[in-house]
Parts: sequence; C-alpha cells; structure tokens
Amino acid sequence: SNSRRFHFDVQWKNISRLCSRKAILTVNGEFPGPTIAVNEGENVEIKVTNGVSLNTTIHWHGIKQLRSGWADGPAYVTQCPIKPGQSYTYKFTVIGQRGTLWWHAHIAWQRATIYGAIIIYPRMPYPFSTPIAEEIPIIFGEWWNLPVEGIETEMNKYGNGPNSSDAYTINGLPGLLYPCAYKDTFIQTVERGKTYMLRIINAALNDELFFSIANHTLTVVEIDASYTKPFDTEAIMITPGQTSTVLFTANQHTHDSTGLFIMAARPYLTTVFPFDNSTTIGFLKYKGTMADNMALPKPSKLRLPHHLPRMEDHAFATKFTNQLRSLDTTMYPCNVPKKIDKRIVITISLNLQDCPANQTCKGYNGKRFAASMNNQSFVRPSTSILEWQYKKYSSTKYSYDFPQKPPHVFDYTGVDPMTQNINPDFGTKLFAVEYGTKLEIVLQDTSFLNLENHPIHIHGHNFFIVGRGFGNYDVEKDSADYNLVDPPERNTVGVPMGGWAAIRINADNPGVWFMHCHLEEHTSWGLAAGFIVKNGAKSFQKLLPPPDDLPAC
Ligand code: C2O
Repeated sequence: SNSRRFHFDVQWKNISRLCSRKAILTVNGEFPGPTIAVNEGENVEIKVTNGVSLNTTIHWHGIKQLRSGWADGPAYVTQCPIKPGQSYTYKFTVIGQRGTLWWHAHIAWQRATIYGAIIIYPRMPYPFSTPIAEEIPIIFGEWWNLPVEGIETEMNKYGNGPNSSDAYTINGLPGLLYPCAYKDTFIQTVERGKTYMLRIINAALNDELFFSIANHTLTVVEIDASYTKPFDTEAIMITPGQTSTVLFTANQHTHDSTGLFIMAARPYLTTVFPFDNSTTIGFLKYKGTMADNMALPKPSKLRLPHHLPRMEDHAFATKFTNQLRSLDTTMYPCNVPKKIDKRIVITISLNLQDCPANQTCKGYNGKRFAASMNNQSFVRPSTSILEWQYKKYSSTKYSYDFPQKPPHVFDYTGVDPMTQNINPDFGTKLFAVEYGTKLEIVLQDTSFLNLENHPIHIHGHNFFIVGRGFGNYDVEKDSADYNLVDPPERNTVGVPMGGWAAIRINADNPGVWFMHCHLEEHTSWGLAAGFIVKNGAKSFQKLLPPPDDLPAC
C-alpha cells in the first residue's frame, strides 16, 4: 500500500541566538525541524539517520501507534537508541486521530532542539464551517545558551536541578524582548477579514505557558488531535507535551493603528523560587497597512497583550482547563469508559534523597533531588524493555511489581509533605494489564514543592480526563462528580498542583508504554513508570513483530 515517506538526518548545525553562536542538534539542519503532514489513515515511514556522535531516538508524541509500539521511540523502553552512523525507519499508521501533534527526540535532553510539528489532515471536512485562510504552526520552545546535551548526565551525577533556560521561543525565535533578538522575532502576515488556524504546540522542556494575541479572540477547536466543543477565550494555557488548535479572525480595524498586533507567551508558575519569568513575543502583521513598511517597535514601546495571564494566575489556568470538552457528536463520539475494570492510585512526588556516602550532592540541603510515582523512582534500563518482553527474555533488569497504590495513604492535610517525600525506592518497575482493560488512574500530586502542574503523558493511548480537583482525592465523593459524558480526550494531563486528576483509558494497544511527567527535569529525576498491555486473543489484538532494522543495544 502507499506510504508517505520522510527522511530525517540528525545533524549538528551552527545557529546564532541571543548574541552568541553554538552548534545544536537538528533534523535536516532545520530548527524547528520539518513538519510531518499526513492524512488520517495513511501509512507513514520516517527513516532516521544518525549523523552525530551521540545516540538518538525520535518519538511521535500522541500518535497512538496501534500495534506498532516498535515505532514509538522512547529510548530503552520501546527501542535501543539509534547509534552514530546508523538508521532506523519508524513505520506506523495514523488511525482515528486528526489535528495537531508533534515529534521530538526521546533521549537525554535532545528534545530541547530536536522537535517539530505533526499535522494530521482529517478524512472528513473540519467540524467547524469557517473557511481557513492559512494553517500556522506555533511551536513554543526553550533556548539555552550553554549546551543541553550533558544536562541529564550532570543531574544523574549530582542530583541537582538544572539551570533555567535563557529564553522561551516561538518557532525557534525568542522575540525582541531578549538581547540581540530583534531579527529573531516571529512575524505572521494576515489579511483583514480572514480566519486563521494556529496549531499550537508546547515543546518547552520545563514550563507550562500562557499565550495570548492582543485584540484577538481565540476559538479552541481541538486538543491533542481530538476535537473539542469550540469555545472562545482571550488566552490559552498549555503544558509541555500538549497541543491545541485554535482559530482567530483578523477582524481589527487598522486605520487608527499600525496594523501590528503583539502575541506573547510566558510561564505559568507559582513564585516560590525566582524562576525565569521572561516572555517570548511575536507579531501579527495586517497586510496593506502601515505595518508593511515600518520597523518593529522598540522593547520600551511595547505593551504585552492585555489578556495575557500573570505568571501565577491559577484562577485563569483552572477556568481554562475546565472549559475543555470532547466534541461528542455522532461522527466524533466520546468513547470514555463508563464502567471500569480496575482503578489504581498513583502519587506524583518530588523527593529529597539522602546523599550516598562518597558523593557530592547538589540538590537541596546537601541532598539529591529525585522524583517518583508511588514512591518508585524510575531507572531506565540498558536494554529495550519492549524487545525483551516480546522475546520473552527473562530479566533482572526490570520487574512487574509497580505498586498499585502509594506506600501509605497520602494525606494532603496531615503530616508535613516534606516528611512524606523522602528517599524513594529506585528501580524499573512496570505494571501489566490484560488487553481491553478499562483502566482508571488517579494521579495525586503530593506537592512538597508547590510549584506547577505535573503534565503526565502516557504513550500508546489517549485517555479521558474524567475529573480534576484540589487536595486529597476521595474516591466516594470525587468519583460521584466525574464527567462521563464529554470529558476531554488527551495524551497529556496537567495534574493540578496540590490536587489530583482522574483519567480513564481503554487499554487496547498491546505493548510497553512509558508514562512520565513531561517536565524534562522531573523525568530525569525519575518521575516515570511503564505499563504493559498484554496481547489480546485475536490476531488483530497482538503487537506486530519487530522490524528488521530495529536498533540493538
Ligand atoms: Cu513527548 Cu515520552 O514524550
């Protein structure tokens, strides 16, 4: 059958940002990387050739990979890395998804520069009638002046927190509020009266972001390649890993202004630590206005969009998130499991680990930072779990005893969270479910640092966010309030700081699936787990055999 083919060459490229020049890892020398645009139902083949001296892998974030787990990409979970000089062809079919997703490297911190958009054109016309003049990817990222490739190694060694990035970016461009960035400012030309689609992706490593365009209302129509009931908003909140497709109409009168409108993104955080609160900006430029021949304004003359939420605007973040609903029409029904076979509760913790003898620890108070799920801090093995699983190798490298509940009932109001979060266990523990299990996972934040939501991402499946709340999860009370009609369908859920989220999954994709916080610093500290969906009885319920070119460790 026909396949859509792409070639990805991983290579270094020198680029200048923020007054200096450095080599970054890229795909085909492009930054951000090339867009993968495909049609719903199509077979896709992407041949990745590793032209650098570091191991690499690529993950197709949010692609369900039905029976094709070999193409999922997380290093040491579904594959061994592609070694220097080697190639691997990722093959998958895009089924039952439409909209915006993205791809990124899935090893060490390489995703800092190796990322790009995935666009899935729907089989049927868009479920909104407005004609779209242009579809524009808006990819948020972070830029470090220093190399990022060694950050994870250093974190493993010292248990430290990484430095904050030096800038946020829109499509790789920091925007003119940063030094030497006047020419590195994203500008999108629009025509008055037309409607545009923004395919927004948060590829930032460690920050949830707010985004707004001055004087323009955004209409959210799709999230994580799943249609939503459209709603209007002056701003959006988006966690790392998530995507959001929005429409806006260029409807402003420009005779009394220049025809230039600012867009901006900045982080959503509490102010516990002096985090970087800088802002990346770009512009909409109306065609045929004064803006055509005018220089961009000086930073001192700029006003950020009036509706851009403040850094600690929890009220906006909560309100925005609660507005998201599945479209739930006859054509696009919401398939949330109404009944479940199994519920597991997983605590999400940042931990402090006592410093082992003879080590230098640079976390906090002479200890190491760690992070865990049910007090298990995930250690990536040196082999591909999926391959060992498939070949039925017996392994001492991982085990199936991931705890189905926290070691003690988490009490948010009780003991000092500090004392509940010390010294996790380290290991590679997975849990296995039968094919077809209707699984509920309650994710409970234990909040020893009350800083930010944890964007928990699950590979190989979408899930439905049936409930979210603050404080301790209470099964009786909280499950009675679930939305089992039109909950949003996603691949990444923001678990509220100091709260919980309940998600439901149809475990209908056999394989080994990584589940982790999409804040890269937390993944590095071990905020991850893996689960196995066993093969079903029928032939179409089984994982396909591995491709011949699957890399070896
Ligand atoms: Cu976008 Cu496992 O990641």
